[in-house]
Amino acid sequence: MTRGRFISFEGIDGAGKSTHIDALADRLRRSGHTVLLTREPGGTPLAEQLRGLFLQQPMDALTEALLVFAGRRDHLRTVIAPALAQGTVVLCDRFTDATFAYQGGGRGFDLGVLARLEAWVQADADGPGHPGGLLQPDLTLWFDLPAAVAAARRAAARSADRLEQEDLAFFDRVRSGYAQRAAAAPQRIVRIDADQPREAVWQQVVQAVAAGLPDSEPRR
Ligand code: TMP
Repeated sequence: MTRGRFISFEGIDGAGKSTHIDALADRLRRSGHTVLLTREPGGTPLAEQLRGLFLQQPMDALTEALLVFAGRRDHLRTVIAPALAQGTVVLCDRFTDATFAYQGGGRGFDLGVLARLEAWVQADADGPGHPGGLLQPDLTLWFDLPAAVAAARRAAARSADRLEQEDLAFFDRVRSGYAQRAAAAPQRIVRIDADQPREAVWQQVVQAVAAGLPDSEPRR
C-alpha cells in the first residue's frame, strides 16, 4: 500500500487557514482520496484534554512545549502514523512548526531544546527506524500576513483564548519564527500570501498542493 501524504497548515491566529483546510479536504475527498482532518494541540482524546489545559491555564514556555509535544507524541503514534500507513491523506491544522514559532519565536524559548524534543518525539513515532529520519509533514502551507491584519480579523470573528490575548509584538515574533523555520526547510514549507481575498488565497493553496504533492492531487 502506498504511504499517505501528510500536509500541515500553519500561521498566526487569524490567518484564515481553517476554511481552506476544509475546502481542501472536500476537494481531495471528491476526487477519491481518503482524508483525515485533524489538529494540534489535539487530535486524540488525551491530546484534546491537554489542549484544554494548554489554552486555559497559565504556565511557562517549557511547560507549554512539554504539553504540546506530549500531545503530539500520542497523536503521531495513535492517529497520524497509522493513517499514513493506510494510504490516507492527513491534513493537520498546526504541527511542530507552531511550537518553534509560538514557544520559540513568540516566547523566546530555547530553540535547541525544542529541536531535541522534536527529535525525541518524531524520530520513531511510526515504529523503530523511521526510514526518513524524523516523521515530518511532506508539505506545510504557511499562511502568512501582518500581525495587525490578523488581529483585526480575530477581533471581528471570535473571543480570544489564552494565546490570542498576547499583544502585536508577540505575534510579530511568532511570524518571524515561522519565517525562520520556512527559510530552514524551503522544500517543505510553502508561503501562502494570506493578506489577499479568500479566492486568491485558495488559488495559492491549490497550486502549492499540486506543485508540492502531485500524488495527492485530485485523481481524474
Ligand atoms: P487553534 O487550534 O485555534 O489554532 O489554537 C491553538 C493555539 O495554540 C494557537 O494560538 C497556537 C498555539 N500553539 C502553540 O502555541 N504551540 C503549538 O505547538 C501549537 C500546535 C499551537
